[in-house]
Amino acid sequence: MHKYESFEIFDGDKRVGYVHYQPRSHAFGTLESPVMYVEGFWVDPAYRQQGVGRQLMEKLIDHAKNMGFLAIASDTEPENDASAAAHTACGFRDAGLLRHFVFEFKN
Ligand SMILES: CC(C)(COP(=O)(O)OP(=O)(O)OC[C@H]1O[C@@H](n2cnc3c(N)ncnc32)[C@H](O)[C@@H]1OP(=O)(O)O)[C@@H](O)C(=O)NCCC(=O)NCCS
Repeated sequence: MHKYESFEIFDGDKRVGYVHYQPRSHAFGTLESPVMYVEGFWVDPAYRQQGVGRQLMEKLIDHAKNMGFLAIASDTEPENDASAAAHTACGFRDAGLLRHFVFEFKN
C-alpha cells in the first residue's frame, strides 16, 4: 500500500484545501515514467473560486519539478467541469477519457 503526501492550506485551524500526491510508475496520457500523480484535490465549498486550488496545484507543480519529475498526471469524473477548469487553468492538458474496471472478491 502506498502512502501519499499532501499540501494543505489552512484558514486559522480550519483546513480549507488539500492536494494529495504520490509517484506512480505510469499514468494514462503520458509516456513519462515515473510520473507524479494527483491522488486527491479538494477545496472547502466556502473557499472555492478564490485561488486556493491554484495555490495548491502550483505548490505541487514546483515540488514535482524540483524532485525531477517530467510529468504530473491526474483524473476526475467526466462531468466535473470545475475540476477540469482548475486543471487546465494550472497548465494540465486534457488527456482524454479512460474506462475503468474492478474485480471484487466476495467474502
Ligand atoms: C476542483 C477544485 C479543487 C478547484 O478549487 P478552487 O479553489 O475553486 O480553484 P481556484 O479558485 O484556484 O481556481 C483555479 C482555476 O480554475 C478555474 N475554476 C475553478 N472552479 C471553476 C468553476 N466552477 N468553473 C469554471 N472555472 C473554474 C478558476 O477560474 C481558476 O482559473 P484562473 O486561476 O485562471 O482564474 C474545487 O472545485 C473542488 O474542491 N471541487 C470538489 C472536489 C473535486 O472535484 N476535486 C477534483 C477531483 S480531481
